Amino acid sequence: MSTPHPAGPELDGVHPAWLPQEAFRAIGSRRTLVRGDGVLADTVRAEVAYACALHGGVLLTDPEKPHDLALTVGGAPHAGEEGFVLARADGVTSVTAGGPAGLLYGLFEVVRRGEAAFGADLPAGTHRPALPRRMLDHWDNVDVHPVMGQVERGYAGGSIFWRDGEPRADLSRVRTYGRLLAACGINAVAVNNVNVHATEERLLTDRLGEVAAIAAELRPYGVRVHLSVSFASPVTLGGLGTADPLDDGVRAWWARTTERVYATVPDFGGYVVKADSEGRPGPFAYGRDHADGANVLADALAPFGGVVHWRAFVYDHRQDWRDRSTDRARAAHDHFAPLDGRFRDNAIVQVKYGPIDFQPREPVSPVIAAVPRTRLAVELQVTQEYTGQQKHVCYLAPMWREVLGFRLWGPEGRSVADVATGGGLVAVSNVGDDPYWTGHPLAQANLYAFGRLAWAPELDPAAVLDEWIGLTFPSAAGGPLRRALHDIMDGSWRTYERYTAPLGVGFMVRPGHHYGPDVDGYEYTPWGTYHFADRDGVGVDRTRATGTGFTGQYPLPWSEVYESLDTCPDELLLFFHHVPYGHVLSDGTTVIQHIYDTHFSGAEEAAAMRATWEKAAAADITGEPGVPVGLHARVRELLDEQVRSAREWRDQVNAYFFRKSGVPDAHGRPLH
Ligand code: GCU
Repeated sequence: MSTPHPAGPELDGVHPAWLPQEAFRAIGSRRTLVRGDGVLADTVRAEVAYACALHGGVLLTDPEKPHDLALTVGGAPHAGEEGFVLARADGVTSVTAGGPAGLLYGLFEVVRRGEAAFGADLPAGTHRPALPRRMLDHWDNVDVHPVMGQVERGYAGGSIFWRDGEPRADLSRVRTYGRLLAACGINAVAVNNVNVHATEERLLTDRLGEVAAIAAELRPYGVRVHLSVSFASPVTLGGLGTADPLDDGVRAWWARTTERVYATVPDFGGYVVKADSEGRPGPFAYGRDHADGANVLADALAPFGGVVHWRAFVYDHRQDWRDRSTDRARAAHDHFAPLDGRFRDNAIVQVKYGPIDFQPREPVSPVIAAVPRTRLAVELQVTQEYTGQQKHVCYLAPMWREVLGFRLWGPEGRSVADVATGGGLVAVSNVGDDPYWTGHPLAQANLYAFGRLAWAPELDPAAVLDEWIGLTFPSAAGGPLRRALHDIMDGSWRTYERYTAPLGVGFMVRPGHHYGPDVDGYEYTPWGTYHFADRDGVGVDRTRATGTGFTGQYPLPWSEVYESLDTCPDELLLFFHHVPYGHVLSDGTTVIQHIYDTHFSGAEEAAAMRATWEKAAAADITGEPGVPVGLHARVRELLDEQVRSAREWRDQVNAYFFRKSGVPDAHGRPLH
């Protein structure tokens, strides 16, 4: 039996996130029977043994011995490979798993429930993940990129996999990471950036050993490794004269290369590809389409059970902004809807949740409804590129919950989560080598919540946050800290939305790094145009009647709902319509007054968050357990920055629209 972490999984100087020792007290102080074979069952035994060493309980392997908890593989085939039945009878709590992965997830379900897992009223039930693949895409580079740094759009330090251009000698942190991921239900990781640069291309060939080393650390926690690859690899790595997907030599190169990958990493998950997007190579160069491109990789992976995640984030980033018919929002649907039915079974089209790019508010991408004969994965962004860059508290689960629950064909139709059962849920990771993993300590909640929602999309975001608080701050039970964290975090996404871009417009950020306000930063640029504000009005006309026709990419009822000014939801109004500043919203406020009001209130809410943290955390800084002094200070510092930045947003946006419109604030507040 291998012991994944005989000395304990904690690492010096690294925050334990949602798995502090205290979280294992309920299990670790009891008698636990574990039965099952293989690497995952060994992990479960090692976890229980470790918990018992901490808290005085015992790990048993003999079923005849009296026990309080039984973790068993087998006997619940209906639960599936990753599922389990949780029940309680005759004073014993039992996890009966459909397969070894189910045993691991069952263990962490018991951890999550703590003492409640041993109460007479434990609800019996079958637990299985709604989505088959629950995956994080790391945008990590091996090298430090001159503009983007090492982790593209990373706000938590360097990569946990590489340092100084080399794999890290000590990968124990990767093992600990796998443990955190398993504890929230994540089962796949793509290790490198979708923008695959020259060094990183070689992870597919002569640097493959580095991928194997990462896979070895994550395997005991049921996390499979995937790799982002460049479509041009047959040329850049293979020395061929072409990467044309229909060329026999190219097909043979991908087949050979992939065979070597599986010889090195037998449980390798597959490839992730960003092609013909923001300068990446792709099939268009050879007059082929994206189904041709995806299928050549899918065919190479098929004999080994691998999948290719082929991203639908394809648009022209060199567009002529004077041409009003060009609309970035339309691009993914224009490219991918006609290809439905042409992708192989192991080609998964990976679609960003919105039609543009991870803005704090976008409508759900119409592509999700447009390819019923294609396996589809939905992509979210846990890293807070456009939502405060882990300097701002912005708990994103409420947004993801809305997206996943959105019914594309109306109230009776399937939800986004239903559609994603074919491919899975993917998110860009927010993790780095920062001591808190995520830069902002409270941003850990986003990572945790992503895993939990991928497992069970119907979960209530506030309940998920509550789980996270209970695990991460064990001393918070029922106390002021728990209340304070809810006050600060539950509504923080909407607060962020209020002080940034209004009514679904998005993108009023500084170009390049995307932090802080710049209302016209991207306006009339080749990347796209996002608000068209002038002295009379604001918003993008995406109607069929007079605009770009984007509304027509939706099925009924949404194509009609969004088309009409009378029915378009206020929060998306300016995404779909260009309206005069005096246009009246459903609550009776004009658009211009709404802009002022939300920016004032958003900035005030940010200040209130800081006050709440000061008050509650001050009462709870008792050292361990409680709010550790260092964590308290880090959050306070970041809240200072959030308050400053929110005011800057308020002033810039209000001043801009006052100058454009000439309309004063109805309440006479200064508009700077
Ligand atoms: C955004 C982001 C890029 C990233 C791209 C993608 O545009 O700013 O850094 O490469 O998304 O998802 O591919």
